[in-house]
Amino acid sequence: MTERLDLQGRHLVLGLSGGIACYKSAELARELVKAGATVQVVMTEAACRFITPVTMQALTGRPVITDQWDARAPANMAHIDLSREADALIVAPASADFIAQLAQGRASELLALLCLARPRQGCALLVAPAMNREMWSHPATQRNVAQVVADGALLLGPGHGAQACGETGDGRMLEPEELRDAVIAFFQPKVLQGKRVLVTAGPTFEALDPVRGITNLSSGKMGFAIARAAAEAGAQVTLVAGPVHLPTPASVSRVDVRSALQMHEAVMAVAPAQDLFIATAAVADWRPAAAATQKIKKDGSGRVPAFEMTENPDILASVAGLPAGQRPYCVGFAAESHDVVRHAREKRLRKGVPLIVANHGPATFGQDDNALVLVDDAGESEMPRADKLSLARALVAQIAQRLPHAHT
Ligand code: CTP
Repeated sequence: MTERLDLQGRHLVLGLSGGIACYKSAELARELVKAGATVQVVMTEAACRFITPVTMQALTGRPVITDQWDARAPANMAHIDLSREADALIVAPASADFIAQLAQGRASELLALLCLARPRQGCALLVAPAMNREMWSHPATQRNVAQVVADGALLLGPGHGAQACGETGDGRMLEPEELRDAVIAFFQPKVLQGKRVLVTAGPTFEALDPVRGITNLSSGKMGFAIARAAAEAGAQVTLVAGPVHLPTPASVSRVDVRSALQMHEAVMAVAPAQDLFIATAAVADWRPAAAATQKIKKDGSGRVPAFEMTENPDILASVAGLPAGQRPYCVGFAAESHDVVRHAREKRLRKGVPLIVANHGPATFGQDDNALVLVDDAGESEMPRADKLSLARALVAQIAQRLPHAHT
């Protein structure tokens, strides 16, 4: 698989305030570095009680800064120098007390001072709260968080679940991989800001009886990557997924279905409210005319059962056939085994969609990378082989350029 360095060239300041979640920040620092960023860690005095600067230095390859009086800073102005060089300042964990300091614009420690002194245009502030659920839900914390967001910070989480104190609820810090992905998403161009995007993904499963059915080898990876890329680009994304075992991308709303009929119903229920529909699902063309309600048994005669099949609705064509005003911009996929471009051109006309994305089915199903050909009324353009998320981002950028400003 092609290695992606999603944070290559980014310089990040990672600030730790005091909290047990500091142990996760070590992993976060590692993930950010692995994604190509340079990471400068700044720790409050309380953070140093939970994890040592030595650990953070070893993971980032840079001495940790803990003190605003650190004489190593050239003009002794660490609070200015650090944020002028950074593309973003990520506070993880952000304790209740630290958020209160941010809300009030206090500057009694280097990290808070740094947040206050950062250039708000060039250096974003990303805040990942971590605290006990009672502290999180306390009106004072909620008031402070609302203030910090109103002042321009981006809130990452918090998550929900078991807490170090033994209680369960809202307030735990997001996992390091989730935070890394949120930082990556933050830097993606917002080419679909405010758009509503519907994506279908995965195979469908057409039941023959309660335990058997007809399906195909689609893994759903391309559709899930597109849903993620669209969400990273600022869209509100609904993902209608056939039976696949893939995690839901962050901030994507997912509807799980099994059969083509269920997928059709789920899609048609929301399609008229969308700006964009991207059909990546490998929908079964046919289903058994009637699924047996009980498991089909061998009767000992040696006779094999025969199944009468019936055609499934074409989901993409149904959406493309919605009346103007209710019809999102439609993008179809074509998985072909031969004559890829010719078939894609024919499919584009047959389904009545402006854009078809063609690929070589047998070479892509289940793989981590892919190559695509875009077919629209202007002709074809190739997107060379890359990992599916990189392709998905490039595709989202291509689609965004073609998108009309209002509904078609
Ligand atoms: N599609 C759909 N509903 C169906 C069949 C296909 O929405 N019942 C969509 C797919 O999600 C894809 C596009 O139509 O975006 C093309 O799918 P494909 O299976 O390649 O095309 P078919 O119409 O099934 O044509 P063929 O099997 O002859 O290649």
